[in-house]
Amino acid sequence: MHLTVIGTGYVGLVTAIGLADTGHEVTCVDLNRERMEQLRRGIAPITEQGIDEALEKNQSRLTFTTEYPVSDLYLVAVGTPERADGSCDLSAVEAAVRLIESISPGASVVLKSTVPPGTTERLSTEHPSLRFAMVPEFLREGTALADMRQPSRIVIGTRDALLAPRLEELLKTTDAPVVHVDPTTAELTKYAANSFLAVKISFINEIARLADQVGANVDDIAHGIGLDPRIGPAFLRAGAGYGGSCFPKDIKALTTLARTHDTHLHVIEAADRTNEAQLEYVLEKIHPERGMHVALLGLAFKPGTDDLRDAPALRLAERLQQLGVKVTGYDPAAKTVLDQKTTMAEAVAGADVAVIMTEWDDIKYVSPQLLQEHMQTPRLIDGRNCWQHLEAPGSVQYEGIGRPHHTF
Ligand code: NAD
Ligand code: UGA
Repeated sequence: MHLTVIGTGYVGLVTAIGLADTGHEVTCVDLNRERMEQLRRGIAPITEQGIDEALEKNQSRLTFTTEYPVSDLYLVAVGTPERADGSCDLSAVEAAVRLIESISPGASVVLKSTVPPGTTERLSTEHPSLRFAMVPEFLREGTALADMRQPSRIVIGTRDALLAPRLEELLKTTDAPVVHVDPTTAELTKYAANSFLAVKISFINEIARLADQVGANVDDIAHGIGLDPRIGPAFLRAGAGYGGSCFPKDIKALTTLARTHDTHLHVIEAADRTNEAQLEYVLEKIHPERGMHVALLGLAFKPGTDDLRDAPALRLAERLQQLGVKVTGYDPAAKTVLDQKTTMAEAVAGADVAVIMTEWDDIKYVSPQLLQEHMQTPRLIDGRNCWQHLEAPGSVQYEGIGRPHHTF
């Protein structure tokens, strides 16, 4: 069976590596020529732990091209960005499917991209010569390869009785449970998973704000509630809110779609509003004034990646700049158009306030001495509640999110 993966971003490249790991030869297609030239030379277009080694190991099984080949099975992992009205832009998926149909009528198409409920069924009707399945991807950036190799579950959404077992055989490499559903259920499962995680984050962020008011510690509260197995400890880290290429756009896409069905997703919409308000909350903690200098420590939307899509640090930088604040930044991986410095010391030099926006290891462990040496009155706002020197903060004025009794 000839396998092709369309799109070589986080999902496409990692999917192709997963298939190659299990001995399959895979053709990877991307319209981005530069990306394909780099990949042919073994250079990964994304920062992910272990990706260079994985590409090298599978070099002989992976082919990179800009031309769609004839194939038996195509896994489509192109982007599905947000449109101006909040809905999901499916143009890349639709273009890919049209090309597949013209080249390989009769082929199987597996959508890995996150697409709104109903999309796969519509595409099946519009392209009757193709067989369709929707297999949502649940990997996280920063741990993408590990998540692909040890998935918590595999959801296979298809009405095609022949394709379902073929996909299970192809994709099941561990004892992860396989959930067989119809395509629309698979699509909504993906959105429900991301929305639920976003709700958890916004929930704990609201508790953090109240903790600030009443003098409680949100980290201890997260620990205290997370020990209840019905709640669980994950995704209860309070901070500056969520960002990234998926939560914000997927929530917008889902709530926009729901409204077209006269359904209001109140809880999910509220999670999104809380997330936006959370950034303003961090802004208030800074007490920004024209002419002030703020250093942002961490710019990527999370550690372990150089991805800046919808990064809270960039949104905060924009708000600060609107208020006439000078902004410098530091990140060990991400590259921005901000006044970015190559070391933390350079970024905080002369700053009035340093704000942790990404919990990279070097940032978590930034020493009180470094801040004292380079800032006149060292002030640190911890937008990720991650600073490791709470017990010996020196003269650093520290403020977390919902950790008020650690303010020195
Ligand atoms: P990405 O933007 O990193 O990569 C998409 C790639 O597709 C780009 O390289 C682009 O050049 C290529 N492309 C666009 N149109 C094409 C076409 N017609 N033919 C061939 N190539 C084309 O995207 P991503 O972050 O990997 O996300 C892909 C999809 O997976 C999205 O729907 C996203 O919501 C979903 N998803 C992403 C993640 C994640 O962690 N990034 C996790 C789960 C699901
Ligand atoms: C998220 C999901 O976790 C994946 O399962 C999903 O496949 C992916 O979206 C997707 O659909 O693209 P990702 O965006 O890579 O993965 O990263 P997360 O670890 O989920 O973090 C997202 C954001 O939430 C980050 O900005 C992070 O800082 C923030 N976050 C996370 C918190 O503020 N608190 C937490 O407790 C956890």
